[in-house]
Amino acid sequence: MEEFIRGLPKAELHVHIEGTFEPELIFKIAERNSIPLEEKSVEELKKAYEFNNLQQFLDIYYKGASVLIKEEDFYDLTMAYLEKAHSENILHTEIFFDPQTHTNRGVKFSTVINGISRAMDNAQKEWKISSKLIMCFLRDLSTEFAMQTLEGALKYKKIVAVGLDSAEVGNPPSKFKEVFDSARKAGLLTVAHAGEEGSSEYVWEVLNLLKVSRVDHGNNSLNDEKLVEELVKRQIPLTVCPLSNYKLKVVKDLKQHPLKIMLDKGLKVTVNSDDPAYFGGYINDNYLAMETALELTKGDLEVLAKNSFEGSFLNDLEKKEMISKVEEYVKKS
Ligand code: ADE
Ligand code: ZN
Repeated sequence: MEEFIRGLPKAELHVHIEGTFEPELIFKIAERNSIPLEEKSVEELKKAYEFNNLQQFLDIYYKGASVLIKEEDFYDLTMAYLEKAHSENILHTEIFFDPQTHTNRGVKFSTVINGISRAMDNAQKEWKISSKLIMCFLRDLSTEFAMQTLEGALKYKKIVAVGLDSAEVGNPPSKFKEVFDSARKAGLLTVAHAGEEGSSEYVWEVLNLLKVSRVDHGNNSLNDEKLVEELVKRQIPLTVCPLSNYKLKVVKDLKQHPLKIMLDKGLKVTVNSDDPAYFGGYINDNYLAMETALELTKGDLEVLAKNSFEGSFLNDLEKKEMISKVEEYVKKS
């Protein structure tokens, strides 16, 4: 099964580029930028990666990201993720970035996006990995700051969609309705984190007010039968992140993860890594953890891989081509 998962062609639809920042690279870039770190070694840094909830994780994640200063830092970070993604048979990835984490401390928006974009273009040339970029707003910051960030971003055609992340509880999607309206008017697609720690009410809001094409996480949707019905009827993709859910104590035990229940209910679920450098595994580790804990079949894994392409922002022809690669692979194995 492990070999089957490794070779399975797949897309990743929920990965924060700042969440792929490995401790070794944090140390290397901090040193390059002459930024002293509190922790004296990679091992010491890794020891701090114990979380009881989303906020405890976010505090450490933003601290890690704060050593990213120059365009080459963003380039190296993105290139390292894309190389890893390629090695895991990800054919297509839709990457989140959090510009406000950087502009808030004086780094220019252009520095961030130019570094990330150049890596995406080079990875396409070098490994034929296809990628798209999604700009997330930090929901615990003001709507004015989000709107100003959107205005500055519109000239960058690499961005295909906007998203919403950071501390969920107390920051309802409704707060960002106008920002998302403006983004859609400008031709961008929308996604949003909802139902990770927040209630199913937040999932309703991202559907009805933010008009999202996908829901990021969406776990708490299961508490509301009507919502599940709606998500199934509209085949709204949910980008589920099993190891993230486990590390942030959204689920107590991987055996209690609702992924299989979601599949059985007919929800369009996908498996993703979220912040792999912090949660102990990239995409294949997430597939494998679910296969082991929930006794998924090859058929389940095939559905998950196909969903990942169907739920992506590729065009119909690209989706068809990638889905036939999944079918060919399954037939041969
Ligand atoms: N930013 C990075 N990872 C996140 C997550 N899992 N939830 C909300 N915001 C995030
Ligand atoms: Zn996320």
